[in-house]
Amino acid sequence: TQRPYVIDEMISAKAIAARIETLAHAIRAEFHDTDKLVVVGLLRGSFVFIADLVRDLDLPIEVDFLEASSYGDATESSREVRILKDLRGAIEGRDVLVVEDIVDTGFTLSHVIHLLKSRKPARLKTIALLDKPSRREVDIRADWIGFEIPDEFVVGYGIDFAQRNRNLPFIGKVRFTD
Ligand code: PRP
Ligand code: MN
Ligand code: MG
Repeated sequence: TQRPYVIDEMISAKAIAARIETLAHAIRAEFHDTDKLVVVGLLRGSFVFIADLVRDLDLPIEVDFLEASSYGDATESSREVRILKDLRGAIEGRDVLVVEDIVDTGFTLSHVIHLLKSRKPARLKTIALLDKPSRREVDIRADWIGFEIPDEFVVGYGIDFAQRNRNLPFIGKVRFTD
């Protein structure tokens, strides 16, 4: 049974869209010379972010997905990252941009980076919409970050609380009411 809670808006849909436009400019500058960019979304949390981001990228890209899970329905990281679905395509010699919704302890992103680097991509860059540096346990930072946030339990724009609230158009924080 779920403790009762409400969701307070933290980052509006408008603010997210404006930030993504800026990030897309930086990514276009970095990858302007490639026709081999593979944009990799980490399922499930990044599905909304990657959908908006790629539509702001005026570049020849391919889209692929990798499903990694460390939280399941829990609120605490298991610190054990499971790959539930691998990429469909090979990335050797390709430029790769990994798209993540949030970096918290850092276990998920660092695991995925190690895995993908072993496949010898030409360039591997990472972007995370949200970064919670105060919770970091693994020394890792995404190359581009949308918003640095305090240690709040956030949901929406792809991010879940026990698999719910991924469809909220904004980033909100969970406030328990009991
Ligand atoms: C969440 C989130 C990130 C990861 C961040 O994924 O989407 O991928 O945790 O936490 P970390 O930095 O502590 O590893 P989750 O495992 O909940 O899977 P989901 O994306 O399917 O919700
Ligand atoms: Mn995730
Ligand atoms: Mg989750």
